[in-house]
Amino acid sequence: MNHGDTETQNVEYPSVREMSDDQRIGIVKDIFASVTDKYDFLNRFLSGRRDVAWRKRTVSEMKFFHTNRFLDVASGTGDLALDCANTYPDVNVTGVDFVQEMVDKGSEKVSNRELKDRVELEWGDATHLQFEDDSFDVTAIAFGIRNIPDKVKALSEMKRVIVENGQVMVLELTTPEPGFWRSTYSFYLNGVLPKLAKLFTKNPAAYAYLADSIMNFPTRKKFVALMESIGLKNCRAIPLTFGICTLYIGKK
Ligand SMILES: C[S@@+](CC[C@H](N)C(=O)[O-])C[C@H]1O[C@@H](n2cnc3c(N)ncnc32)[C@H](O)[C@@H]1O
Repeated sequence: MNHGDTETQNVEYPSVREMSDDQRIGIVKDIFASVTDKYDFLNRFLSGRRDVAWRKRTVSEMKFFHTNRFLDVASGTGDLALDCANTYPDVNVTGVDFVQEMVDKGSEKVSNRELKDRVELEWGDATHLQFEDDSFDVTAIAFGIRNIPDKVKALSEMKRVIVENGQVMVLELTTPEPGFWRSTYSFYLNGVLPKLAKLFTKNPAAYAYLADSIMNFPTRKKFVALMESIGLKNCRAIPLTFGICTLYIGKK
């Protein structure tokens, strides 16, 4: 697929329900490789900077008590990793992402903020983490699990690499309960957001996929049940901003 800088891509992705797992993984890699340059700007703009507040809330719930290490899974351009390092000066942070363009962009930000001694971003796949068991106090995935077809595998890997009583955190875009806010949000996601994205990105189909993947994400109750099914304890869901985002936390 063409990732030229100036040309708009006239691609259309099939609906999430019609994709095979392998096809979905390919599309996700393609999307994030094509939006890297505008990714941070579009996150802030399309969420009205709520994404910054949601990551801050996630970081505020983290508890470091043994390894003083945090793993950011599907770290993208490293925002959660950087927030964690800035908030906890004694914590060492590792981030992994399977799109090298995102890792490179994040690494630039780490260097610019002079955090290279405590933050390392590297290539890695959430479903096959390259770390030993019990290596971190906390692991989190922000806006990443939605794109991973095998959610059980990714969550199990996150559980494996943290210590006993460590935390698995999942921050994800969700849909409000049925009613006024859900209808308004659905209109924004499907009607407004792809049009706005068209103005700023050469791959507007990426934002149609975004809307589709949010609408097809499991309900809060089902996602908590999924976390419990892999043996996580004290699982809870914290709805944020009328439930358009949810922070899930479970303990090993
Ligand atoms: C919406 S971005 C989120 C990035 C970042 N966590 C944030 O808060 O902005 C989703 C990221 O998940 C990554 N990703 C999706 N599936 C992955 C997988 N199986 N392993 C590693 N990274 C993955 C994508 O490459 C992309 O960078």
